[in-house]
Amino acid sequence: MLKDIFMGLSQNQLLNSAAKKYGLKMGAQSVVAGTNIPEVIKSIKELNAQGISCTVDNLGEFVFKEEEATAAKEQILQVIEAIHENQVDAHISLKPTQVGLDIDYTFCLNNVREIVDKASQYQMFINIDMEDFKHLELTFNLLDDLSLEYDNVGTVIQAYFHNALEYVERYKNYRIRLVKGAYKESDEIAYQDKKDIDANYIKLIEWHLLNGKFTSIATHDHRIINHVKEFVKRNDISKDKYEFQMLYGFRKELQLKLASEGYNFCTYVPFGNDWYGYFMRRLAERPQNLNLVAKQVFNK
Ligand code: FDA
Repeated sequence: MLKDIFMGLSQNQLLNSAAKKYGLKMGAQSVVAGTNIPEVIKSIKELNAQGISCTVDNLGEFVFKEEEATAAKEQILQVIEAIHENQVDAHISLKPTQVGLDIDYTFCLNNVREIVDKASQYQMFINIDMEDFKHLELTFNLLDDLSLEYDNVGTVIQAYFHNALEYVERYKNYRIRLVKGAYKESDEIAYQDKKDIDANYIKLIEWHLLNGKFTSIATHDHRIINHVKEFVKRNDISKDKYEFQMLYGFRKELQLKLASEGYNFCTYVPFGNDWYGYFMRRLAERPQNLNLVAKQVFNK
């Protein structure tokens, strides 16, 4: 019920525009690492100092105008430059709709190509985040087209889809982030029950760890993480074949613990003014995150 309310709110474009105008509010500052490049570089440096690498998301989605998509691309290019100049351990995550996937496929491809090309000059990886099912095949098409020219690009596969294993098999030679899935999808194509999603998630992780190029296991679920730790040990899978990922501001002690145990750990660091949809999805996933909101409201 709460999940549905927050998912609905996450797609409300009026609230999204209002949020952009008024800066980080409602507790979003706990899970969004600032609104500009100097602030995000500072956060990355702090995480790097604790042995954690970062994937940086210049927040933005629901872009329907070419000039907005071009501006988003320019901002991402600036982030790449800042990562390089500051010599921090970080790469980029981007959303295809932010750089024009809802406007025109070729326009979007050209934008992402420019980003991947710039990053390749600095041996930097670009992750194309996976949005809802409506954009899934087009996102895979972007990856297919870009990988004809570049090898510093990968994407995300969501375990809630019935045929997720098919996608994982198709993209086994890529650096792939495996997640449970954050969008509301119909029961015709996606598991709805948490138990089914978790079981499929474990199946995908094991398959990709055994057969894939590099696996990013992106979850806050300690049960899954403990399962993976056992699985890699049992199967003698070396640490350079995988990493754990979590979102900025969530389970900070567990993030530090995994990094201090010698696992590769990468924090997903979102920043920027367009934080509203991202923040609402986090509330939808885990209504307990409302605690974050409550704390901010009462700690004034
Ligand atoms: P889940 O919400 O299933 O929780 C499982 C259990 O873990 C809980 O019952 C609790 O015990 C524990 N737990 C979870 N969160 C906790 C917290 N904050 N504090 C304490 N305990 C907690 N999705 C997508 O569709 N496309 C994408 O591109 C991405 N990208 C992405 C990157 C990264 C780095 C992450 C971590 C996640 C994504 N996601 C995503 C989101 C993903 O699909 C999923 O919606 C969320 O990670 C929530 O699922 P979890 O597996 O984290 O735990």
